[in-house]
Amino acid sequence: MSVGRRRLKLVGILAMVNLFIYFIVEVSRSDSQDKNGDGQIVIPSGKFWKKRSASNAYWNREQQKLDRLYNPILNLLNNATVEEMVASNASALNSCDLDTSVRAELKDFEQLPDRFRDFFYYLKCKNYSLLLDQPNKCADKPFLLLAIKSLIPQFDRRQAIRESWGKEMKINNMTVVRVFLLGETPPEDNYPDLSGMVRYESEMHKDILLWNYKDSFFNLTLKEVLFLRWASHSCSNAQFIFKGDDDVFVNTPLILDYLKTLSPEKAKDLFIGDVIKDAGPHREKTLKYYIPESIYIGSYPPYAGGGGFLYSGSIAQRLYNATSKVLLYPIDDVYTGMCLEKLGIAPEKHKGFKTFDIDEKQKKSICSYTNIMLVHPRKPQEIIKIWSMLQDSRLNC
Ligand SMILES: *[C@@H]1O[C@H](CO)[C@@H](O)[C@H](O)[C@H]1NC(C)=O
Ligand SMILES: *[C@@H]1O[C@H](CO)[C@@H](O)[C@H](O)[C@H]1NC(C)=O
Ligand SMILES: *[C@@H]1O[C@H](CO)[C@@H](O)[C@H](O)[C@H]1NC(C)=O
Ligand SMILES: *[C@@H]1O[C@H](CO)[C@@H](O)[C@H](O)[C@H]1NC(C)=O
Ligand SMILES: *[C@@H]1O[C@H](CO)[C@@H](O)[C@H](O)[C@H]1NC(C)=O
Ligand SMILES: *[C@@H]1O[C@H](CO)[C@@H](O)[C@H](O)[C@H]1NC(C)=O
Repeated sequence: MSVGRRRLKLVGILAMVNLFIYFIVEVSRSDSQDKNGDGQIVIPSGKFWKKRSASNAYWNREQQKLDRLYNPILNLLNNATVEEMVASNASALNSCDLDTSVRAELKDFEQLPDRFRDFFYYLKCKNYSLLLDQPNKCADKPFLLLAIKSLIPQFDRRQAIRESWGKEMKINNMTVVRVFLLGETPPEDNYPDLSGMVRYESEMHKDILLWNYKDSFFNLTLKEVLFLRWASHSCSNAQFIFKGDDDVFVNTPLILDYLKTLSPEKAKDLFIGDVIKDAGPHREKTLKYYIPESIYIGSYPPYAGGGGFLYSGSIAQRLYNATSKVLLYPIDDVYTGMCLEKLGIAPEKHKGFKTFDIDEKQKKSICSYTNIMLVHPRKPQEIIKIWSMLQDSRLNC
């Protein structure tokens, strides 16, 4: 970009900032005039802006660096465009080398459980490749894409889903397609070698996506990023996407009925699930979700529980875009919430998503399942049983 154009752009942005401040002043003035009716200008007592203070937590600090990099105003003052700044940092942003700086930067790094060290050593690496792909999965425009997180050894869970709620089909012009999302389960973690079986499964069912990274709880975030990359490249025409676990029961017909009736506006920006608000990191060391203060401080943005959520296909591309601006976080559904927050999309709670199950009494009646979209957890045999009972034409609820 020429110096002249840059200066023009700077002047333009400064003019916009001025206009924005003018609006705020005008709006607060007219507000106070409305309220008091005496023409007195009321100066707000609190600040309407917030300056982020430097944090001691490693993740927060690293994210602040990224935020600064993607801040167009700061970059303009540096005489650079965002693209130029990002390009000059490209190798640091996507490095797959073991990051040794974290040892010094993250307090007590050596004392943290192994999974944290595995995670932070390769925090910046996201460009894993597909070992098994389904490039033609979305050749026929899907109305609904089902993306199910699984682990290689869980063949029975996948098969139960194929035979029940995850059936690929076309009804009333609505195409439903299915993929399972897998990483590797390597021998160093003492997994048996099932690579031949999974290759066979992929040929037989054409629904396996397998990437060459190690499948683990903290790497579920990587699974999310890689799925979003796949969805925006190989399935960008999907109208809606359901993403969830392989131990849930999903009432797919109910979801289709719901999606059919959405208004065009709602359908464009849909994001629903079991939304958790005002949550923060667990500080109890024994929990799976434990995150120490040395890593993250602050609350979590609203997020939909990872057991399963439903959203518009167009959001997948925007989410994928946002993933380059949000540092990987070890908890996948929280990470998706962070990316949504960057996009200004608020996930919405829908009472049909029961990620914490229904009570024992309700469980006994099949009719409870007729107005539930998702329930967690269910075993493969339970999934098949619930599905076949719901399909029964004599069902009377
Ligand atoms: C980008 O590069 C600048 C200087 O080259 C460095 O100060 C900054 O920390 C880098 N940002 C990231 C996120 O790596
Ligand atoms: C930005 O560019 C202008 C010339 O266009 C120059 O005068 C100024 O010193 C530059 N600022 C920085 C921070 O490099
Ligand atoms: C990802 O890209 C980096 C360079 O940008 C390269 O060094 C690395 O080998 C790639 N990693 C994978 C897993 O493809
Ligand atoms: C079904 O979809 C096709 C292609 O999207 C369209 O041309 C056709 O009109 C649709 N039919 C009905 C009944 O909606
Ligand atoms: C995630 O996968 C990468 C690539 O296989 C691996 O290097 C890293 O240790 C894994 N992280 C965790 C937390 O398992
Ligand atoms: C992704 O972000 C870039 C700017 O960072 C923007 O130009 C582009 O339109 C975005 N794409 C989508 C699909 O949102």
